[in-house]
Amino acid sequence: MPPMGTLPLFEADATAARRAAELRDMLNEHCHRYHVLDAPTISDAEYDALFHELRALEAAHPEMITPDSPTQRVGAPAAEGFAKVAHPRPILSLANAFDAADARAWRERLLRHAESLGLAERTAAARFVVEPKIDGLTVVLTYRDGVFTQGATRGDGAIGEDITTNLRTLRRVPLSLRSNAHPHAPTTLVVRGEVFVTLPDFERMNNQLRTAGEKPFANPRNFAAGALRQIDPALTARRPLTAYFYAVVASSGGTTPATQWQTLAWLGTLGLPVSDIPQHFDDFDAAVAFCERYVTQRDDLPFEIDGMVIKIDDLELAELLGYVGRDPRGALAFKFPAREATTVLRDVAISVGRTGNIVPAAVLDPVQVGGITIANATLHNFEDIARKDIRIGDRVIVKRAGDVIPYVAGPVVDARTGAERAITLPTTCPFCGAVLTKREGEVALYCLNDECAGRTDRAIQHYVGRGAMDIEGLGEKIVAQLIEAGFVSDVADLYALQKDQLLTLDKFAEKKAQNLLDAIAASRNRPLERLLIGLGIRHVGEVAARALARRCGSIDAMLTTSADELQKIDGVGKIIAESVVDWAARPTVHTLVAKLQAADVNPTQTPVIDAPDEPPQGPFAGKTFVVTGTLSQPREEIAAWIEARGGKVTDSVSKKTSFVVVGDEPGRSKVDKATALGIPTIDEQGLRSL
Ligand code: IVH
Repeated sequence: MPPMGTLPLFEADATAARRAAELRDMLNEHCHRYHVLDAPTISDAEYDALFHELRALEAAHPEMITPDSPTQRVGAPAAEGFAKVAHPRPILSLANAFDAADARAWRERLLRHAESLGLAERTAAARFVVEPKIDGLTVVLTYRDGVFTQGATRGDGAIGEDITTNLRTLRRVPLSLRSNAHPHAPTTLVVRGEVFVTLPDFERMNNQLRTAGEKPFANPRNFAAGALRQIDPALTARRPLTAYFYAVVASSGGTTPATQWQTLAWLGTLGLPVSDIPQHFDDFDAAVAFCERYVTQRDDLPFEIDGMVIKIDDLELAELLGYVGRDPRGALAFKFPAREATTVLRDVAISVGRTGNIVPAAVLDPVQVGGITIANATLHNFEDIARKDIRIGDRVIVKRAGDVIPYVAGPVVDARTGAERAITLPTTCPFCGAVLTKREGEVALYCLNDECAGRTDRAIQHYVGRGAMDIEGLGEKIVAQLIEAGFVSDVADLYALQKDQLLTLDKFAEKKAQNLLDAIAASRNRPLERLLIGLGIRHVGEVAARALARRCGSIDAMLTTSADELQKIDGVGKIIAESVVDWAARPTVHTLVAKLQAADVNPTQTPVIDAPDEPPQGPFAGKTFVVTGTLSQPREEIAAWIEARGGKVTDSVSKKTSFVVVGDEPGRSKVDKATALGIPTIDEQGLRSL
């Protein structure tokens, strides 16, 4: 092809127009593959090159710019706020059910109503689609001749606000539909969906806001709402919003599917993002069981759902069944118990963990969260309290998800009266008076007094636990009783317990006392690795304890092995080795070990010196990780967590690296090297789910 300059002008223009159209199609296709299908076929750099080429062409020929051009995602701010938009049909709501019984009652009502309409048989035979009820913001999008022309909020259901320019900035919202896939696609199509933010994106954004000294968002929903209602679309564009679509609101000039199940698939083929969670059911009870499954499974989803939606699959039937007020009879929200609530923070109590870590706990006015009453919740650490600016007397947001310990997410700043008091940082341990210290690179405060009374019960509980010395019948309450009575002050004292001592305790009779003594005596024969776990050496979990026991053979040998030697053991690693040496250097440790040995607790095993190490066990066995950037815990903790699962952690990226775990503000050189070597990078959530 001759250079452009030598072509007659109109011909050059025609070529440019053709190329621009081609680039638009390619970019829209790749955008869809990347953001909707999660299956890109070109690199980011190649995408950028195409994008710049199109932008240059459009700059030279502004008349070629089309509204669905990918260069047009971020437009100019609306001069006078958001215009009002009338929806073509009411944007309905849903009736709620809170459990399976509610759901079945809905179905019974539905069948009775259907009978009065002469639809009994059709309704009794109806199938159901169950979808996640995403806790985001409802949006209504209009496509004319396949091009995105208008996007609106739900508003009052009849009239919403025109947020077209903001919605255009969402990469998951196609600017043009892939209508060519459907010769009979409607000329006007209005669809409904939910805009939301994923939980990792939400956490990341809130952390950035906190770092910048700005107010974080109370929850993902508020975040999404705030982002969509920005007057300047450039601000919306910077917020990581995403969307799922699930319904046709109205259409004309073509056909749309007859069932909800087909609708979901059809929306997907048009290029709109659709959730892959929905299922369809012949049997209503199976549909309800599916909803119930998600009461716990929602904890594994990367976004918030507040329930499931059960829908009659037959859309014509659903329409015929009519409405009660704003709620269609043919659909039902199966709501989950709320996992967050607000209450008043009355005080901050302090407890000491097994390793001496100081844990601030919130004393709350009791409140229901996720189906249980909560009066205490963790505040993580004092740095977190300061970062979130939590004060005594604050109305606070309390969250709880699945097995996660309830925690205080933050204050409701707008509810402040001025009477709130700052939370002061303790300088000494409330149990033993020792001066508290911080470990390098960590935010937690520690009481380093091994004999601190506040730690004794945790240490004993850990020692007797199932994964350690497994002493049956020695639960939390009895440990507390033994300490309270002054019978034990460390784990070695357990072996000196006498039956007449136990008989003085509340609820102890002959048999129970004897059983406990027998169980304690039996623990003398546990393997060395169990004892090592039980002693609660920092970072020494199951895998490391097994490796140490195999190589050292006895506690005495372990106490005298250098960090260099320990590190050579497969499954031990640098962090664990240093922790063992630190531990071995403490005089209190020597006293305790001697006391245990005197009590005949001194398991040994023949050390394996020359044989090759048993391959490390655990899910990360044989895998090498590099950790970079800020994660939810100090890097050392993350490394120990990996090592405890059989993985290795190194400082630099090489061909031998299996994964690079990337946190906030990672070391660029590590990330670049990983990319260059084709080593997968994962975030913390990715690591945890490996
Ligand atoms: S169906 C007739 N399906 O939940 C259609 N709603 O009151 C009625 N929502 O804010 C809505 N996910 O936007 C439906 N898969 C889903 C949904 C869903 C979230 C929202 C909806 C509304 C609320 C229901």
